[in-house]
Amino acid sequence: MNHLQISDLTVAYRVGGHTVPAVRGVDLTVPAGGKLGVAGESGCGKSTVALAVLRLLPANATVTGRVLLDGEDVLTMRWGRLRAVRWAGASIVFQGAMHSLNAVHRVGDQITEPILLHGKGAITPAVAERRAGDLLEQVGLPAHQAAAYPHELSGGQRQRVMIAMALACEPRLIIADEPTTALDVMIQAQILRLIDGLVTEHGIALMMISHDLSVLADTCDRLAVMYAGRVVEEGPARTVFATAVHPYAAALGAAFPTVGDPAARRAPRGLAGDPPDPAQLEGGCSFCPRCPRAVAECARVDPALRPAGPDRAAACILVPPGGPSPRSLRASAAEVPAAPEGRRR
Ligand SMILES: Nc1ncnc2c1ncn2[C@@H]1O[C@H](COP(=O)(O)OP(=O)(O)OP(=O)(O)O)[C@@H](O)[C@H]1O
Ligand code: SF4
Ligand SMILES: [Mg+2]
Repeated sequence: MNHLQISDLTVAYRVGGHTVPAVRGVDLTVPAGGKLGVAGESGCGKSTVALAVLRLLPANATVTGRVLLDGEDVLTMRWGRLRAVRWAGASIVFQGAMHSLNAVHRVGDQITEPILLHGKGAITPAVAERRAGDLLEQVGLPAHQAAAYPHELSGGQRQRVMIAMALACEPRLIIADEPTTALDVMIQAQILRLIDGLVTEHGIALMMISHDLSVLADTCDRLAVMYAGRVVEEGPARTVFATAVHPYAAALGAAFPTVGDPAARRAPRGLAGDPPDPAQLEGGCSFCPRCPRAVAECARVDPALRPAGPDRAAACILVPPGGPSPRSLRASAAEVPAAPEGRRR
């Protein structure tokens, strides 16, 4: 059975009398023990999807669709059941651990709290403390760091504590929402390896959110690329990264200079412009204003996801039924435009 099945999820935020359609008809699946990467630029709705999975959205959000966790719809669950599912069914590692940890409690107490709550009296404080120490060691911290307050730890150590908390109640799904933002590249790599290793070892399903397609291609089995609140391409992670079908996914994958390639450093291929403000979306394909391959019809038609080859789908009118040929895939990967001067990194 799929551990997580999101169907036709829409989320709209109400802000100052108008509506922001942040997520528009998203379908995503993570099988038990599977790893799904979700990529996309800032504001495309990745965190909104993550928060919807555990019904953590703020009161100004209206949600429709279905979010099945092990077959149970999170969106219609009673509060008591929802409390049981949070942590034990699925847990989240948020971006920015300093904001997620409580500054006035020792980190060990923050790890034991859900263990004791979910143990419902069957677990003693001493057992929970031992488990917190074990969890800290699993994430590469000495058990005595349980006595530390968050401000006494480095950013990387705090993020390790967040991962220990996410593991505390042995969930079947972990959602990692940009778990390495604000960490230096060496620590980023360590944290990603740590999450990858732990979910593999424990057979936990993973939904990993990042801007960085290459990181997701390394870590995940499948990759979904979001744009303006929609999934625009989904398929096997390495295939989508190497030969994206959707022009946005192709540009996102090419938006980084190749390490060791001086030519790529001088002229990294990138993406001009910015994603649309969801409150100002017009008809047609939302990527049209930035798309190097747009044709007249793109301003009128908002394409749905359609099959784009074996086991993959893309939302672009240029995708022929049954998917493009391998030759055209290689050609479209090479067509990604150079970034305008002002936006080169
Ligand atoms: N609480 C809120 N109230 C109103 N609008 C919101 C709220 N939270 C998010 N939004 C809007 O919803 C859209 C999607 O935001 P979201 O945080 O899901 O994007 P994201 O893909 O996670 O971006 P990032 O990569 O920057 O984290 C954005 O336009 C954002 O401004
Ligand atoms: S539908 Fe048109 S504008 Fe949208 S991604 Fe495809 S080619 Fe580009
Ligand atoms: Mg986010």
